Amino acid sequence: MVCLPGDGIGPEVTAAAARVLRSLPLELTLEDYPFGGRAIHELGDPLPEETLSACLAADAVLLGAVGLPEFDGAPVRPEQGLIRLRGALDVDANLRPTTGDDVDLLIVRELVGGLYFGASGRRADGSAFDTCEYSPGQIERVARRGFEFARERRGLLTSVDKANVLETSRLWREVVSGLAADYPDVRLEHLLADTAGLQLVQDPGRFDVLVTENTFGDILSDVAAGRCGGLGLAASASLGDAGPGIFEPVHGSAPDIAGRGVANPAAMLRSVALLLRYAAGEPELAAALERSVDDALERSPTPDLGGTAGTVEFTEAVLRSLDRAAA
Ligand code: NAD
Ligand code: IPM
Ligand code: MN
Repeated sequence: MVCLPGDGIGPEVTAAAARVLRSLPLELTLEDYPFGGRAIHELGDPLPEETLSACLAADAVLLGAVGLPEFDGAPVRPEQGLIRLRGALDVDANLRPTTGDDVDLLIVRELVGGLYFGASGRRADGSAFDTCEYSPGQIERVARRGFEFARERRGLLTSVDKANVLETSRLWREVVSGLAADYPDVRLEHLLADTAGLQLVQDPGRFDVLVTENTFGDILSDVAAGRCGGLGLAASASLGDAGPGIFEPVHGSAPDIAGRGVANPAAMLRSVALLLRYAAGEPELAAALERSVDDALERSPTPDLGGTAGTVEFTEAVLRSLDRAAA
């Protein structure tokens, strides 16, 4: 497996992930490659050729986070490497689960289309342009994932768009509605993105699976995380039809707390659990790790949750809990 620690707290939380992965009864190799701001400094490119080929050949990619304040406004930016990597691996379905008291929802964020990938952003005559583009095939692919997850869960799929304003959203709604007949066991509803934000704050427990375009999914997954314990807990898995998935926390490089040893590694460790489930075919280990992370959150919470445990202390609490469960 390839590991891309990246920037800021990325290396701090990936160190926790590597420690936990090595403690598990699994045959795996984890090789670090340069990525993000560090790679720009060392090699002039946030996604160097060698890193991209290693990712393309890997079983899975474990990713920390990218982004450094010194690149704000720079022409070559760490985040460009992340977008290119997602495109190159064609991981169209980004799963972002949120759980909490009476909340168990899954956002399926389209990850390789929409505003992020439309005809390249540019400036002309002093104005700036970004284009939102979707083909029916792109929408169908991610929507089917949404239906399939809903079918395995509680049977409700909420498709989120801005069909009252945007042409891409009207196409989105048409395509999603056209698939509903293939999934008679799933109840499909459509919700406008602003209302979805409101309801995620007011009544997140009413949702099961949400499927939405790239930008709405980015924003709404932070909203859902903010309502249920914060970004220190939010994991993600990005899957394509074939080839390796990317497993990364929803959060960024958190420059405000980087280097202090206080980052909550739970989001990363839950992303490792998703890797075990979706890439390694180890659902039982995945569930055991999720239980141990929950256990450590009870016993040794980090400062973002009002506790005092540092990253290493939290990781050791997870390792102890895994040991107890295995005994
Ligand atoms: P951020 O997610 O890095 O941080 C937002 C807030 O959440 C900060 O206060 C931070 O301290 C807190 N936080 C985040 N993760 C935490 C954790 N594990 N434990 C405790 N607290 C945590 O978002 P930002 O500050 O807007 O962005 C910083 C940089 O990260 C930017 O360059 C941005 O582009 C980048 N970014 C990268 C990714 C990614 O690599 N996938 C995701 C989001 C943002
Ligand atoms: C995320 C991040 C990225 C995104 C940025 C860093 C490019 O916010 O993974 O949620 O917008 O997709
Ligand atoms: Mn985001």
